[in-house]
Amino acid sequence: MPRIFSGIQPSGELHIGNWLGAVQNWVTLQLSYECVFCIVDLHAITGKYDHETLAQRTREMAVGLLACGIDPDRSPLFVQSHVAEHAELQWLLNAVTPIGDLERMTQFKDKSQRFESVPAGLLNYPVLMAADILLYRADLVPVGDDQIQHLELTRDIARKWNAEFAAGEQYFPEPQPILTEAKRIMGLDGEAKMSKSLGNTVGLLDGPEEIWQKLRPAKTDPARVTRKDPGNPEICNIYHLHRYFSPPETVAKVADHCRGAKWGCLDCKRELADNMIAALAPIRERALDLHTEPGRVEEILAEGAATARKIASQTMLEVRGRMGFLPAATLCPDSR
Ligand code: TYM
Repeated sequence: MPRIFSGIQPSGELHIGNWLGAVQNWVTLQLSYECVFCIVDLHAITGKYDHETLAQRTREMAVGLLACGIDPDRSPLFVQSHVAEHAELQWLLNAVTPIGDLERMTQFKDKSQRFESVPAGLLNYPVLMAADILLYRADLVPVGDDQIQHLELTRDIARKWNAEFAAGEQYFPEPQPILTEAKRIMGLDGEAKMSKSLGNTVGLLDGPEEIWQKLRPAKTDPARVTRKDPGNPEICNIYHLHRYFSPPETVAKVADHCRGAKWGCLDCKRELADNMIAALAPIRERALDLHTEPGRVEEILAEGAATARKIASQTMLEVRGRMGFLPAATLCPDSR
């Protein structure tokens, strides 16, 4: 059975972009594939970050993913820093990763501009991501389209490593992405991709009033200045969000009412808010339930890490061997 790996950073709240672009798909895919899911906290320290809240955010991310329907009995869910092999393989893959390839990554080019002195981790970020995937020798990676370039690099790294250390045999599969129709959800500012770092999100665990307060001021078609101006739903982010949260007849009504100036943008947003609140309510309830079970999340993450470590340690044994490292001898207790 093909194996799936995917990950998410605990760098902020889980938002509807993550859910529609990736996590909803993880939940479905776990019914048909062997899946491994990871909260990538080592990636979350590659920029400026708050170390005092990292642990809490990691835990919250686990709660969110479980509430979405990740089933730990089917798919191990674990924290990246709990499986040391991720960092080890990342170091070994540096041997076949050209710096030029890393400098060309769009996300590196964007994010590095925010720093006077760019942290090395930001440049090496995609090598760690390659290590995450290759450690489990995964075939498929469900992600949003902002990760496609990193996956291309992962395939290049796998190819180079296979050529150098596996005599061209496909020891590491070249992993392919799985995208959803919602592969790039725009933020409420209508300008940039919905992103934790830009503050243009709707949180998956937001309550009804928070959702409404966020949708109310969201950007729509700028040509609609008053409710009498006809609009173009195709360029309106609120219309696009209706497509994921509202039934088809509502989506058709929204397009018709917008083009025909039959209602105001606020009416359109109110209907979206109601449908979004209803869609997210069960997730929110499950998250609240999980909060009432002390220790349960930690237990799930510990079990997930133990399962992940079994696969990871086997891969590392083989990788170290193929790369020519001297195996560590085990001392028998009475020879000390
Ligand atoms: P991250 O934490 O930024 O996002 C997690 C997943 O959500 C998707 N996503 C979106 N999809 C649609 N529209 C959006 N606005 C949107 N925002 C985020 C992302 O594409 C991603 O699938 N580098 C990764 C984490 C990672 C990883 C991995 C992923 C580390 N190692 C190995 C897959 C495999 C990241 O920062 O995702």
